[in-house]
Amino acid sequence: MRIKTSAPGKLMLFGEHAVVYNRPCIVTAVSSRIQVAIEQTPGRFKIDAPQVKDVRFVEETIRVFKNKFKTGNGLSIKTQSDFSYQYGFGSSSAVTVATILAMSKLYHLNLSLKNIFSLGYQVALNIQGVGSGFDIAAATYGGTIYFLTGGKKIEPVPVKNINLVIGYSGVKADTPKIVKSLKLKVSPKGRSSYGRKNQKSKYVKIFNQITEIVEDAKKKLVNKNWQRVGKLMNYNHQLLQKLEVSTEKLDKMCQAAVGAGAYGAKLSGAGGGDCMISLVSKDKRNLLEQAIEKAGGQIINVDNNAEGVKTEN
Ligand code: PMV
Repeated sequence: MRIKTSAPGKLMLFGEHAVVYNRPCIVTAVSSRIQVAIEQTPGRFKIDAPQVKDVRFVEETIRVFKNKFKTGNGLSIKTQSDFSYQYGFGSSSAVTVATILAMSKLYHLNLSLKNIFSLGYQVALNIQGVGSGFDIAAATYGGTIYFLTGGKKIEPVPVKNINLVIGYSGVKADTPKIVKSLKLKVSPKGRSSYGRKNQKSKYVKIFNQITEIVEDAKKKLVNKNWQRVGKLMNYNHQLLQKLEVSTEKLDKMCQAAVGAGAYGAKLSGAGGGDCMISLVSKDKRNLLEQAIEKAGGQIINVDNNAEGVKTEN
């Protein structure tokens, strides 16, 4: 029996970095997906994943299944991606989640979405050691999600496709590295942990401000108050600049978008590269795309609010 599944990539809308420190974020699943096909074969484990950057996520998923459910070794796995891993759309989490659903079907385990999320988050932590799990949640549940660190809360935000223009900066971000280096600034070595001593630190204040933005954005997205959502994106970007995770290129692309009439713009994800997103009314889309290209960005055409992990025919 051959099982085929797919899971979507994601874009962070609000709350990156703060979400690592027990705060909420809003993430949306994108229409570009990763497909996984699995079948049992005699002999050894075989994997064919030409576009997936890091096959460790597939290997680790299989290892976790073997330990937990005593599944076998004789597997042939093929993956295929609609998008380049370089964009920062979360190809690792998408391939992990799609593999988990495929294994669940292949071995008749009937895992719930909650189980799929938990296993996916475990795999991601085993490999990267850091991360909030927001990307695993987007790949699992799809749609647009209000998410609290580690999946303590996962709530759908009822919106339709949000009119975003997405610009790729041309630089691949190293998310775990950026998250770890910010962690060192937030809780410098020698201090016991992120905690009471840091309550009043610059970073705690920034994370609290980001939280207010996320809470406000959650309501304004539902009300389709795009003007306000755009403003909140600008504020969020300014706070990310204060965290020193933005780059000149991302700043330039965001400025260009706002200059061309966007409601707002911000970097999306860890920073240091990857993509920026800008919110726009339909009539200004072309202008905005041109402005972002002029600032050196590459326009990526994907829809958002896409379906979560699913079985394919
Ligand atoms: O770089 P991305 O798109 O994977 O986003 C990282 C978002 C962070 O909040 C910085 C990390 C995390 O795991 O939440």
